Amino acid sequence: MRLALRFIIPLAAVLTIIAYEVVPLVDALTLRWFVRDLEMRSGVITSAMEETLPPLVASRSKLKIHALFNRIILDERLYAIGFCDNVGAVAYRSETFSPEIKCPLPAKERGEDLVLDLPKGPLHVAFRALKIENDRLGQLVLVHDMSFAQRRSEDTKRYVFYLFAGIGAVVSLMTVLIAQLSWRGWLSGIRSLLRGETILRPAANIASPEFRPIIQDLRALVKDLESSRKSRDESQISWSPATLKEILRRELAGDEILIVSNREPYIHIREGDKIVVQEPASGLITALEPIMRACSGTWIAHGSGDADREVVDKNDHILAPPDDPSYDVRRVWLTKEEEAGYYYGFANEGLWPLCHIVHTRPIFRSEDWKYYVEVNRRFAKTVAEEAKTDDPVILAQDYHFALLPKMIKEYLPNATIITFWHIPWPNPEAFGICPWREEILDGMLGSSILGFHTRFHCNNFMDTVDRFLECRIDRETSTISYGGKLTAVNRYPISIEWPPRRLKAQKPVLDCRNHIRQINNMPPDRKIGIGIDRLDYTKGIIERFLAVEKLLERQPQWIGKFTFIQIAAPSRSMIEHYQKFEAEVRGTAEKINARFAAGGYEPICLKIKHHGADRVFEYFRGSDLCFVSSLHDGMNLVAKEFVAAKDDNKGVLILSQFAGASRELPEALIVNPYDINQCADALHGALEMPESEQRDRMSSMRKLIEEFNVYRWAGKMLIDAAHIRRRNRFKDRFGQAEQKDRQ
Ligand code: G6P
Repeated sequence: MRLALRFIIPLAAVLTIIAYEVVPLVDALTLRWFVRDLEMRSGVITSAMEETLPPLVASRSKLKIHALFNRIILDERLYAIGFCDNVGAVAYRSETFSPEIKCPLPAKERGEDLVLDLPKGPLHVAFRALKIENDRLGQLVLVHDMSFAQRRSEDTKRYVFYLFAGIGAVVSLMTVLIAQLSWRGWLSGIRSLLRGETILRPAANIASPEFRPIIQDLRALVKDLESSRKSRDESQISWSPATLKEILRRELAGDEILIVSNREPYIHIREGDKIVVQEPASGLITALEPIMRACSGTWIAHGSGDADREVVDKNDHILAPPDDPSYDVRRVWLTKEEEAGYYYGFANEGLWPLCHIVHTRPIFRSEDWKYYVEVNRRFAKTVAEEAKTDDPVILAQDYHFALLPKMIKEYLPNATIITFWHIPWPNPEAFGICPWREEILDGMLGSSILGFHTRFHCNNFMDTVDRFLECRIDRETSTISYGGKLTAVNRYPISIEWPPRRLKAQKPVLDCRNHIRQINNMPPDRKIGIGIDRLDYTKGIIERFLAVEKLLERQPQWIGKFTFIQIAAPSRSMIEHYQKFEAEVRGTAEKINARFAAGGYEPICLKIKHHGADRVFEYFRGSDLCFVSSLHDGMNLVAKEFVAAKDDNKGVLILSQFAGASRELPEALIVNPYDINQCADALHGALEMPESEQRDRMSSMRKLIEEFNVYRWAGKMLIDAAHIRRRNRFKDRFGQAEQKDRQ
């Protein structure tokens, strides 16, 4: 079709020019030639009659003259002949002589030749003087039939038109052919680029050996330039909601964004006769909620609150956030059995302990797996229902949805799926115990981009895929080619919003310090350590308490002077292991408190209750140190939130080396949570740390979080997604062109 157009359009242009410019020009020229021809013929006839006619005119032999005239007009082109006398009257004429032909003025030496357009056809009239020994007798009038000229002109026009049309067609064809050949050359260049070959590669193949080192150097240079440009571009941006919106507009042309997660950003709960909104304790929600505020779009999640159904519209939607709606939440309902099998069972008793190396044995039940598959399918269908376009960008979240990427592709093959795995990924041996390991990997590889917090987790994932699936892994580009599709496996360390929205509502640090001491019945000079987590066995809460005990044991000067407040949001409490863990946490706190209790003093203040984000921020601001002692954690955003809350640059963060955050925040006191003595020393070090050192460490960490905030995390993924989309579009176009070429 495109080829036909490329041929037809220039040809049509050429034909128009021929019809309106060339043909009329050629027509005028040929007519002039014919007229000149007739003029010459008239001259020749006149000369031939110069001997016979004058004596007959002189003798006024009318009959003889008529006979002569009628004989002469037997010539097929000479239509009529006449003779005008010196007074300007037609003295003799052939029978065909038309009365419309008038003699020229008698004084005129020679009348002007003219063309008469008569109903019977065009006539050429020539006037030639006839003399006898220098005496002018009159003028011979020779009338030629010009219809033959007209016929010839028509023939010539047709001939010229066909001739030029033919030439035009040949020229257009040749132009298209040449363009096609150079297009193909260009195409094959682009194709080789898409195959990952550099432009220099063909040159390298044909280059003689002495040029190869230069070409290699050039290639390295180009690569360096490319990578430095990429990192410069990203680092030069100051990341904010506005930047993220701009990225969406510029890089993704405002494409549709859908987020899928198990946990919803707002939970509606019934408290007596009131419905209250709760923001769940989840690092995933902390990170994604600001992204959704910036990007709008739709967030699909499990409606888990007991009043959730009461507030949705007829399409199971609510607008969020409640105070300033800017995006949609689509709630998906699950039965008790589905929730037990998919969420509590396979996700949280199977995958959660499988991926966290905390020596808790994963439990895999085939009944749970069945629900996990079913619920993933339900969410994939919901994504297809909610998508307004056929190629949305979908951000699939976490271990609840390992099968979702591939399933979505069945409904929306053009969707770009970015899957982010918020928890660690273990090594192949650890992962290999999962009975459905191949299915899980197969599902995840439906993603265009697969993100982890650290390079270490990316490498573990690629090793696992390498071990269990037939695929091609390119470690240099960090991509997996599986079933003809490419998945990029990248590190995107998650973060928090900056500036933190919660800070706006906060009182000055001193007020926060006083307030939390007051509400907890503590004297104003009490040093406070804080821990805020879900009540989860991966968080190292018991190890934290043991470190406090060890501190008081080794540094008794802190007895009565230091309290550790642990806020623990109840979590997954239907699971037996979590119930046992809660009992263990309570028991440990009680035991330690009993050991050091004196005059109402308790070293550990345990609050197993959900706390809202504003109260959490107040606790952070009012505390002297924060202890994040995760035994294994993807990132841990509590560490980053504590730093964000400390806008006075005071306070100390103690951070487990097994949390992803420790890679980014080395200014924290990094500890091994299993080493209780080391942790106790860190607590002591934090309590003793001079303010100047606190300021240095804190301001450095704050700068890092400001620069590497959550907008940058999302922006980087979206830029990479946009790059992949552009590449795929190219591939589709060139792939189609290639197919057509082959047909
Ligand atoms: C972790 C997971 C999240 C989850 C959160 C809270 O951070 O990575 O996906 O939302 O824990 O757990 P919950 O089971 O209450 O959603």
